[in-house]
Amino acid sequence: MSGLAEPQRKALIAAAKGAMEHAYAPYSNFKVGAALLFADGGVITGSNVENASYGLSLCAETVASAAAMQAGRRGGLIAVAVAGGAGGVPGTVVTPCGRCRQILSELAQLGETDPDVICIGADEIVDIPLGTLLPRAFGPGTLG
Ligand code: THU
Repeated sequence: MSGLAEPQRKALIAAAKGAMEHAYAPYSNFKVGAALLFADGGVITGSNVENASYGLSLCAETVASAAAMQAGRRGGLIAVAVAGGAGGVPGTVVTPCGRCRQILSELAQLGETDPDVICIGADEIVDIPLGTLLPRAFGPGTLG
């Protein structure tokens, strides 16, 4: 369970699921939605955007992070919800891929937060701090 109030947590989960509708995933047929919650209550969503050149596909978390940066966000990230697959595969939850962990970490480190990542599955929802998913992350501070 994250430190979020339950209505806010439910709304963020709903936003991630809602973002799945905008996914462009004709190759994998695995639609993903991500919703980023900021300290001021703002929510920015993203969905995966695939490409006929498969390896160029963009993950939902990356799209959401880029949208947030483009909207001027430079920190304040307190939670991330990720949903994927048509209802999800029983016994699994969607966790951000390695690249997305690093991308999310940049935004988190800019504001010195450790957002809870709410990983949504068919039959369970698991909250994992980003710092647990990506310990000792490389980031802006590493560059000095
Ligand atoms: N995908 C995401 O959008 N986020 C993740 O963290 C894992 C994978 C997307 C990439 C691809 O479009 C599809 O899911 C199947 O891998």
